[in-house]
Amino acid sequence: MTIQSDDTTLARTTLDRVLDDVEGRLRDHLARERAHWSAVGDAAGDAGLVVPLDAVADLVAAGGKRIRPAFCAAGFLSAGGDPDDPLIVDAAAALELLHAFALIHDDVLDDSPLRRGRPTVHERYAAEHRARGWRGDPRRFGEGVAILAGDLAYVLADMLTADFPPQARALWSELRAEMIVGQYLDVKAAAEASADVRLARWIAICKSGHYTIHRPLTLGAGLAGRPDLAAAFEEYGVALGEAFQLRDDLIDAFGDSANSGKPTGLDAERHKMTPLVALAAERDDRVRAMVSAGSAADWDAERLSALFAESGVRDQAERHIDALVDRACAALDAAPIAEPWRQTLVDLADKVARRDR
Ligand code: IPE
Ligand code: IPE
Ligand code: MG
Ligand code: MG
Ligand code: MG
Repeated sequence: MTIQSDDTTLARTTLDRVLDDVEGRLRDHLARERAHWSAVGDAAGDAGLVVPLDAVADLVAAGGKRIRPAFCAAGFLSAGGDPDDPLIVDAAAALELLHAFALIHDDVLDDSPLRRGRPTVHERYAAEHRARGWRGDPRRFGEGVAILAGDLAYVLADMLTADFPPQARALWSELRAEMIVGQYLDVKAAAEASADVRLARWIAICKSGHYTIHRPLTLGAGLAGRPDLAAAFEEYGVALGEAFQLRDDLIDAFGDSANSGKPTGLDAERHKMTPLVALAAERDDRVRAMVSAGSAADWDAERLSALFAESGVRDQAERHIDALVDRACAALDAAPIAEPWRQTLVDLADKVARRDR
């Protein structure tokens, strides 16, 4: 147990208060949009047009760790931003809606049946199509609904950025584009079966680390008028972003689906070229043979996890996470932020890197 100073407790309380406001903003924004589209549906004679909106709202209501809002708000507050500024609440809520977009589409890309402990959007609407005996292919229908629900989440996120100043706008665009190209590289590396540690690490940061930690922090600091923090937050955010995604990959291989709310072993089933696979392919002939057998051959998820453990890759990944957390926290040492906020970011780093869901 760490003993916290009163100031660190106060910083944490302030952060939690902003995050509560973010929850309220998400609820209000979604409720207002629903009221608007319900009225349009009534006029059009089909109330069903709120389905994609409800799909987004259900995913947001299902929980999630709210990591992106937390880093955006922490970046803002540690830069001296005013906790009552509505701009930070909007920015943090926009990040969570953008994340909803990313998750809904990611689950189509990865063909995953489970998210936040519930059926994924495409799975749920494929089932609905089947249950209603509608025409056409249920899978195509479900994926169609998920594409549209994801697109809608993207628009809902963008609506909350209307008051961003130009620099924040540019960062917001960069954050979105890099996540999308990262997702493309993720599916391409799986299709190509190219096991390359350096590339796998790069993809992890590009598809996930940047939009999860580095960019939200920098966005927060920028909205507080402190672009001078960008370099320290980049160093912290890139290192911790990699640790975040490596932990996600370990949870996929070794976690408990009841806890994570996602399937276990899905990365192996989908031939994902995670840093774990790339490292294991370097170290272990059996993994190399599995990977080079091509995408036609199934990978046995349980066997692959056992090989991660046996080959020492699991331990190596844990050590790498520790080193990344150390690097992230060291980047804050010389940063011009108040001690309680430095400590808050150190605590967040530990939580993100050592989570089990
Ligand atoms: C999952 O992100 C998707 C990735 C970028 C790996 P989170 O682990 O933050 O998921 P939630 O928001 O808590 O559900
Ligand atoms: C998803 O990475 C990254 C984005 C959502 C952009 P993963 O595919 O590893 O995420 P999970 O494991 O499905 O949550
Ligand atoms: Mg996925
Ligand atoms: Mg994915
Ligand atoms: Mg994953």
